[in-house]
Amino acid sequence: MSEKEKIIEFIKRSPKAELHLHIEGTLEPSHLFKLAKKNNIKIPFSNISEIKSAYNFSNLESFLKIFYQGSRVLIKEQDFFDLTWAYVLKCKENNVVHAEIFFDPQTHVNRGINFDIVINGIYKALQKANKEFGLTSKIIMCFLRHLDEVSGFKILDQALLHKDKIVGVGMDSSEIGNPPRKFEKLFKKAIGEGFLTVAHAGEEGPPEYIWEALNLLKVKRIDHGVQCLQNEKLVQQLKDSQIPLTVCPLSNIKLRVFNKLKEHNLKKMLNKGLMVMVNSDDPAYFGGYINKNLIECQAALNLSMKEVKVLIINSFKSSFLKEEKKNEWISKFSS
Ligand code: HPA
Ligand code: ZN
Repeated sequence: MSEKEKIIEFIKRSPKAELHLHIEGTLEPSHLFKLAKKNNIKIPFSNISEIKSAYNFSNLESFLKIFYQGSRVLIKEQDFFDLTWAYVLKCKENNVVHAEIFFDPQTHVNRGINFDIVINGIYKALQKANKEFGLTSKIIMCFLRHLDEVSGFKILDQALLHKDKIVGVGMDSSEIGNPPRKFEKLFKKAIGEGFLTVAHAGEEGPPEYIWEALNLLKVKRIDHGVQCLQNEKLVQQLKDSQIPLTVCPLSNIKLRVFNKLKEHNLKKMLNKGLMVMVNSDDPAYFGGYINKNLIECQAALNLSMKEVKVLIINSFKSSFLKEEKKNEWISKFSS
């Protein structure tokens, strides 16, 4: 076996944690089409291949338009269950043993779907996956940053009724023009209520947004964060604190943050000692789950076995698992 083949085998068979995954972004075109029919929701596509050809994005904004449109086919608790169940089967296939999953309740509640329907469908599928094949998971609720803080406070109130199921809050949607400081009070309240915090920052937006997420929102992780290399002081701070950056390489190519995977800064970030790992973001829209992200990065950036191992170990280190559980998974890589 060549060294490259060995690395690919290692990627496939290693247990991994996924820390940046939007459950609505796992809605595969065939499933979207089926749900639109079942729920009688009009979509501007007459077949699956038309849906697939619409997945051609020029930036984050152009993706979000299609992404929110796709989410409209999710109506019943069973739909959220089936969506999540399809994802956990992908976890099994990819050897993802722990998943920390985002959901966007405002996308659903604002079109008349009950918060309980959304969270219960997702939660029940994750519970079943834990029972059937041991997948562990956490749920993180994201605020839509293009909406105002009042809307965020309203959804946070609803989340308080489901504190047993939701471990943290995050922030996603249109980054530019919606800086983290817009939600300083909201995040303060969420922290006071015992939620962990994370935030998308530095995907398209400037290093300043990463500073704000750290200093004002007190986040435990930065989602994406690839723009951090523009600012040396920020890199030093991220290195010293070992704040994780949940990088999503195939997403960054599809949304044209980088032109080609060969130009992606993942390896640079890793070699600067930053706490980075690889995630799939919205795999149904961006063309690949976690193994595909890792395998394509390995090829494009010529990642060594050692570098791939660090990325996978970092996925556990950066998770919200308890220390003993983290160490249990990490110890499997010590030989
Ligand atoms: N960025 C911001 N918002 C999102 C994303 C993303 O990559 N995916 C789903 N919502
Ligand atoms: Zn994301």
